[in-house]
Amino acid sequence: MEHWPVVRREVEPGRASRHGALGPTLLALIRAAGLGGKAVLDVGTGSGRLALALADEAGRVVGIDVDARAIETARRLARERGLGHVTFVEADAERIDYRPLGPFDLVVANLCMSDPIIERAARTLPPGACLAFACFHTEQWRETGQASRFAYSPERLEAVLRSAGFEPEHLEVEQEVIRFASAEEARRHLAGLRAKWAASGRWAAYEAYLAGGGRALTESRLIVKARRR
Ligand SMILES: C[S@@+](CC[C@H](N)C(=O)[O-])C[C@H]1O[C@@H](n2cnc3c(N)ncnc32)[C@H](O)[C@@H]1O
Repeated sequence: MEHWPVVRREVEPGRASRHGALGPTLLALIRAAGLGGKAVLDVGTGSGRLALALADEAGRVVGIDVDARAIETARRLARERGLGHVTFVEADAERIDYRPLGPFDLVVANLCMSDPIIERAARTLPPGACLAFACFHTEQWRETGQASRFAYSPERLEAVLRSAGFEPEHLEVEQEVIRFASAEEARRHLAGLRAKWAASGRWAAYEAYLAGGGRALTESRLIVKARRR
């Protein structure tokens, strides 16, 4: 296994969270893979944020997502911008075969990745083509003691990519640790996530962490580019 770089930053609680955002490292990696005129598949496209960001450079972009309302929004945004070469399909990316939607030169994803998606990307991409994505790292929100089912450690991701037929070329851990001055400040910062975290048991775990004197929150993702062998 290679030793991949880790970029760690401490951030002020007042700054807007980057959770869910489209990061510059991923965009730079995708652009470095060469977009000019290429056919791109964006997996877990949501409202098409990544697909639309690549539209001006790519030849054709297809975004897929299981969420019908998000796909409707993505279609509307593409229509409003007059982007006839950007289309959106409602589909379960862990179940469908991507090949009938293609052919594709590049598969991308922002925060939607799993073993079945990697396997399907490998089946649709020709040798030499790239898969580039950001996904949650197992240390995402580590203070809640619960890793997302979509989170990867670098070691497991590397193994999954290799066994699917990809050669990892870039695998970077981007991590931000927010330090709160008080438990109250942490609760205020997390107000928007409270209902979701309460439902999954994360909120109670984070309260226990705060009660024990903890005052941090880790946001961590992997930024990856891998090439089809
Ligand atoms: C964190 S959001 C990211 C959305 C988008 N990539 C972006 O950057 O704004 C994750 C997205 O993955 C989608 N998703 C999750 N599981 C999926 C699946 N099996 N097939 C297709 N989409 C899926 C969700 O509906 C959601 O829109």
